[in-house]
Amino acid sequence: MGLVRKNNLLFVFILCCICLESDSATDTITSFQPISDPGYIISNGSSFRLGFFSPVDSTSRYLGIWYNNISVTNVVWVANRDKPLQDSSGVLNISADGLLVLLNGQKEVIWSAEVTTSVPNSSAQLLDTGNLVLIKNTTKTIIWQSFQLPCDTLLPMMNISTNLTTGNKVQLTSWKSLSDPSNGSFLVGIQPLDLRQVFIWKDGSSYWRSGPWNGQVFTGIQTTNNSGLSLVNDKERTASLSFSDVNNSLLHFHLNTQGSMEQRSWDHVKGDWEVMWATLQSDCDVYGKCGAFGICNSQSSPICSCLIGFEPNNTEEWNRGNWTGGCVRSTPLQCERVAAGGEAGKMDWFQTMNMIKVPDFADFSSVSEADCKQQCLQNCSCTAYAFDSGTGCMSWTGRLIDAQKFSSSGVDLNVRVANTKLETKQDVKKIVTITVIVGTVSSAICTYCGGGWLNFKVNILTKIRKNFCYTLEITHECSVNQQGKRKESDNLNQAEVQELPLFTFEKLESATNNFHLSHKLGQGGFGPVYRGKLSDGQEIAVKRLSRTSAQGLEEFMNEVVVISKLQHRNLVRLLGCCVEGEERMLIYEYMPNKSLDAFLFG
Ligand SMILES: *[C@@H]1O[C@H](CO)[C@@H](O)[C@H](O)[C@H]1NC(C)=O
Ligand SMILES: *[C@@H]1O[C@H](CO)[C@@H](O)[C@H](O)[C@H]1NC(C)=O
Ligand SMILES: *[C@@H]1O[C@H](CO)[C@@H](O)[C@H](O)[C@H]1NC(C)=O
Ligand SMILES: *[C@@H]1O[C@H](CO)[C@@H](O)[C@H](O)[C@H]1NC(C)=O
Ligand SMILES: *[C@@H]1O[C@H](CO)[C@@H](O)[C@H](O)[C@H]1NC(C)=O
Ligand SMILES: *[C@@H]1O[C@H](CO)[C@@H](O)[C@H](O)[C@H]1NC(C)=O
Ligand SMILES: *[C@@H]1O[C@H](CO)[C@@H](O)[C@H](O)[C@H]1NC(C)=O
Ligand SMILES: *[C@@H]1O[C@H](CO)[C@@H](O)[C@H](O)[C@H]1NC(C)=O
Ligand SMILES: *[C@@H]1O[C@H](CO)[C@@H](O)[C@H](O)[C@H]1NC(C)=O
Ligand SMILES: *[C@@H]1O[C@H](CO)[C@@H](O)[C@H](O)[C@H]1NC(C)=O
Ligand SMILES: *[C@@H]1O[C@H](CO)[C@@H](O)[C@H](O)[C@H]1NC(C)=O
Ligand SMILES: *[C@@H]1O[C@H](CO)[C@@H](O)[C@H](O)[C@H]1NC(C)=O
Repeated sequence: MGLVRKNNLLFVFILCCICLESDSATDTITSFQPISDPGYIISNGSSFRLGFFSPVDSTSRYLGIWYNNISVTNVVWVANRDKPLQDSSGVLNISADGLLVLLNGQKEVIWSAEVTTSVPNSSAQLLDTGNLVLIKNTTKTIIWQSFQLPCDTLLPMMNISTNLTTGNKVQLTSWKSLSDPSNGSFLVGIQPLDLRQVFIWKDGSSYWRSGPWNGQVFTGIQTTNNSGLSLVNDKERTASLSFSDVNNSLLHFHLNTQGSMEQRSWDHVKGDWEVMWATLQSDCDVYGKCGAFGICNSQSSPICSCLIGFEPNNTEEWNRGNWTGGCVRSTPLQCERVAAGGEAGKMDWFQTMNMIKVPDFADFSSVSEADCKQQCLQNCSCTAYAFDSGTGCMSWTGRLIDAQKFSSSGVDLNVRVANTKLETKQDVKKIVTITVIVGTVSSAICTYCGGGWLNFKVNILTKIRKNFCYTLEITHECSVNQQGKRKESDNLNQAEVQELPLFTFEKLESATNNFHLSHKLGQGGFGPVYRGKLSDGQEIAVKRLSRTSAQGLEEFMNEVVVISKLQHRNLVRLLGCCVEGEERMLIYEYMPNKSLDAFLFG
């Protein structure tokens, strides 16, 4: 008998243990089943846990949700972000009127789930998606969910959204620091304009943007490695951002304290998170890095340049690497000239740039590509347009900000520039006179070889005050292109002008595969040197002057002079040069030996 009773007691004891265990492994909180620090609940499926934690280097207690099944405590949601508990006396309970409340040791409400109508006899359940839901017992409907109030982590099934009718936003907010989950400086949200973009704001200012959504992808994110982010516009005028519900539940987007949103996946082997994609991959991803009318290219050095037809507003600061001042138009547009009472000249035209993250502040209109261009041309304040089959017609008025050059994907951007072709004979005479004066004091040639003589009015009229190089281009161009004027200019420069072939930027671009990194021979004092091959098979070395080099043009001119003199001695053969927009390049015969390298790189 004694033995039996003992066994019975043991049996009861074991039963109790099982009871306790199944109790602590529940996924539900009720007024009969609150949790007290350090108690917790685990979702059915055991993916997530809800409980109390302290961040690193902190003794404050917070109520949060984290992954149950990995070796680190990765908190994905915090209830009392701004109101930490000072000790371990916290209780999560359902109040008499059915609210989910977090109480401290003094029974004061530290945090509660905000609901519009209170429902007695409700219960809270942690779902296996990581969503904590408050359920009305009678109807089993969800009256509140933690997915409505994201912290810094976007889980699968979760949305960032903006209600276009009410302007209500669901956003991610970064932690202040690793030991403080309260609101930090960064927010991720959707801008609810015609063209939907995802933004990261830093203290209210734009910090990163996705570029417009085109129905499939965000055009301002290089698609080489798809982030998987997608935008849905549901019927109730709400734009929602989420990511394709992937197989892997241990995948999320996390906005870190430095303002980069990272897509992370748990690596079971390493036992750590692996960052698969991030919003800030290079300096170019920081909003407006190159200022107004600047364009950022992470593949070039320096990363910032002015759009074609523009020049730095403050050259000194720009060359120093302070790009905040941006760029200004170098030649007024036709419509601006007319407005200022000047000569009309030719219609403005568009310079097309491929694979661009288009600037911010685009206006959208649902017209054809041709109409898109026409609309822009007819409006003097229109500075650019772009047409993407998914997005439609985008146009910009005023400043172009946060444009970026990609090496794949992106959109073609058409920037409005002045058409600078010469118009009248009187102008030609004026130029020849200028050329005569300048030509006699300088001694180098190079040219922008566009469409002939008439092309060079711009260079003279706009650049002559800055440098003689441009005027000499014209002298040379004149001798090449206009047989009638040939003797005149040749005579003036006979002693010094060399008959150097002329290279267009385009030609050099294609010879070096777009100045591809794989063609780079090295980096000299003035800038990089590329190896290239002309269409006729000739191997060349192209020295591209760095735009940060303050003395670049002067040195360039000196080098042209020196090299053209040296050429007689066959030290190194200068094949030509090119000045186009801001580009200045020297083209040499390519000789892969040390002496040439030493020469090229100084
Ligand atoms: C947990 O999930 C299983 C199946 O996934 C289900 O049968 C069970 O009823 C669930 N338990 C609770 C408490 O919801
Ligand atoms: C939890 O981890 C174990 C071993 O790492 C694994 O077998 C189990 O499937 C995981 N459960 C969930 C829900 O991920
Ligand atoms: C939880 O709340 C109920 C009333 O809703 C109350 O009766 C109970 O004592 C509370 N539990 C704790 C541990 O505070
Ligand atoms: C809530 O539950 C109590 C006891 O379980 C019950 O007496 C009461 O009628 C319920 N209230 C509602 C509104 O369902
Ligand atoms: C509400 O529902 C939960 C789960 O269905 C149950 O455990 C709890 O006792 C219910 N609460 C009341 C007050 O009836
Ligand atoms: C997320 O958005 C989708 C589409 O709008 C919607 O069906 C889903 O219910 C939303 N999820 C949450 C948690 O709001
Ligand atoms: C923290 O940020 C969220 C999301 O923007 C906001 O709803 C909440 O009011 C902020 N809290 C404080 C204390 O500023
Ligand atoms: C892109 O993804 C491929 C395979 O998915 C991977 O091999 C490659 O390293 C990724 N590239 C970057 C830049 O993340
Ligand atoms: C957006 O707000 C409107 C107006 O209040 C509302 O009718 C609609 O349901 C809201 N959309 C969502 C998805 O909540
Ligand atoms: C999910 O993962 C499993 C194994 O990793 C794979 O067999 C299955 O095809 C995946 N399903 C989807 C929809 O990707
Ligand atoms: C150029 O710089 C000047 C002074 O530095 C400033 O007043 C002006 O607004 C700038 N222009 C543009 C287009 O940013
Ligand atoms: C950068 O240049 C702008 C003018 O373009 C100037 O106002 C600003 O002070 C400069 N910033 C620094 C850090 O030099």
